Amino acid sequence: MNILHIDASPRAESHSRKLSAAIVERLLDVSPGASVTRRDFAIDPVPHAWSDYATALSSPTTLADPPPGSLDFSESLIREVEAADAVVIGTPMHNLTVPSVLKAWIDQVLRATRTFRSTPMGKVGLLQDRPVFIAIASGAIFSGERANQPDFLTPYLSAVLGSMGLQTVHFLAVQGTAFLDDGQAALAREEALATVDFAIPA
Ligand SMILES: Cc1cc2nc3c(=O)[nH]c(=O)nc-3n(C[C@H](O)[C@H](O)[C@H](O)COP(=O)(O)O)c2cc1C
Repeated sequence: MNILHIDASPRAESHSRKLSAAIVERLLDVSPGASVTRRDFAIDPVPHAWSDYATALSSPTTLADPPPGSLDFSESLIREVEAADAVVIGTPMHNLTVPSVLKAWIDQVLRATRTFRSTPMGKVGLLQDRPVFIAIASGAIFSGERANQPDFLTPYLSAVLGSMGLQTVHFLAVQGTAFLDDGQAALAREEALATVDFAIPA
């Protein structure tokens, strides 16, 4: 079993990093010996879509005959997802949605004719489903009765991951981090972890 572990927070001491690490630990508890592939966007950020890549994606013709090398990086990121039995993504909420560095990764892995097919009914995912665990940290509250802001993060990630064929998405969140001390944050992590079954279907 292979776990792809991605972190998108720019902060080293980060709530979403602690939660994503705890998710990986739980997965390793139920699948001892699993390997972990790491992508840390604070250390190695995914660049925004550049000219040749955007040109390749600009029409069916250019996609069929892309500028040389323009799809190589995208291909390597997609293969990391394909090689994973489970994907764990730690992400902060930045301005109601994902940080731009995670969006940059999405722009590389959600690619027409490779991870989805366009049909008159919408995108059809071409990847085999596998569980995706999203560890979210938000300074304020975006879900439940105490929500004080809209949430464009969870519906967005459900839509883009679902477009690739990744339908089994679990959201775990530590919310209101601006007001949590260390003990409260640890408790919030435990509460989030308790909402999910970490057994990965073979
Ligand atoms: C640029 C930026 C935008 C943010 N926007 C929001 C927001 O829209 N809603 C929110 O609840 N918190 C927002 N925050 C606060 C972070 O979500 C919060 O600090 C969270 O704990 C960050 O995750 P981390 O601890 O994993 O780094 C923002 C923080 C930054 C740096």
